[in-house]
Amino acid sequence: MNIRALDLHDDGRTPPATGLLEIVRRGLRAQPKRLPSWLFYDAPGSALFERICEQPEYYLTRCETALMQAHAAGIADTLGVDVRLVEYGSGNAAKTRLLLEHMAAPVSYVPVEISPEPLQQSVRRLGERFPQLAVQPLCADFTRALRLPIPSRAPRRTVLYFPGSTIGNFDTRDAVALLRKMRGEMGDNGGILIGADLKKDPALIEAAYNDAAGVTAEFTLNMLARLNRELGCDFDLAGFRHRAHYNALAGRIETSLVSQRAQKVRLGRGTVVFGDGEAIRVEISCKYSLEDFAALAGKAGLEVLRVWLDPERMFSVQYLVRAGSVAR
Ligand code: AVJ
Repeated sequence: MNIRALDLHDDGRTPPATGLLEIVRRGLRAQPKRLPSWLFYDAPGSALFERICEQPEYYLTRCETALMQAHAAGIADTLGVDVRLVEYGSGNAAKTRLLLEHMAAPVSYVPVEISPEPLQQSVRRLGERFPQLAVQPLCADFTRALRLPIPSRAPRRTVLYFPGSTIGNFDTRDAVALLRKMRGEMGDNGGILIGADLKKDPALIEAAYNDAAGVTAEFTLNMLARLNRELGCDFDLAGFRHRAHYNALAGRIETSLVSQRAQKVRLGRGTVVFGDGEAIRVEISCKYSLEDFAALAGKAGLEVLRVWLDPERMFSVQYLVRAGSVAR
């Protein structure tokens, strides 16, 4: 591929029509206060996330990578030949590389990513490793309708690759809506290769979001640092604390930033008032049993064709197709 001519196809809807200030204002006026988790991923936040993946407690990346190492050939075989591979989020160069190494003559690789820096980085990394591969980056918000770039030859099928258990950041309603949107984008003959983190000992899950080195706390607090940088807010980072708790009933990690005292913060021309102990919800990370995930897929008109697990059964990679599309 041609890195010089890195043209970032834009779907025309990115960045969102509503500006950052308005999104933040709305979230901080809501009760309880909340901020969207995509706000984590500016350049410093993306770098912090990569450091999270290296922490001993954060098993997700390690297990998913081990799983891909063990099963890449079988997974590639399931996807078949002449595939157009579309990746939702592109910060996963290592896993994607494993997949591409085993795929037979992929038609093209389309990383979809909202922030330009990680997108360009993944294009560069993969372009060096796979000089023959047609890489067609798309700078867009993958939760919205995508206009995929036209491939140079007709693919046999479009596979949407959504690793990392990022689907877990969406509550059931939004996850179903996103999977339904993906079902439309992949077409009749397409598929979704998706990473889903599994339910397990809550202590292990909680530790993954409360690493001893404090990298996750720094990642969470970076959201406020970003608002200081981009919106001129005056959040005192020492005045807020990272809290990540496993809600066993809901089967999910719930992450908040908790105000350590009563305080006021500047936002645009106004101020936001925080009570002592008041929380801003910033992320959920859902965990699934295999049954949970099959039911979720079912609600989106999809069925699970295959599941791959790491040896410790911590994490799953699943291949979804349109329900009823496989003759039995
Ligand atoms: C990249 C969304 C899968 O939810 O586990 C890691 C993000 N947040 N530690 C996750 C995250 C805190 C991560 N995902």
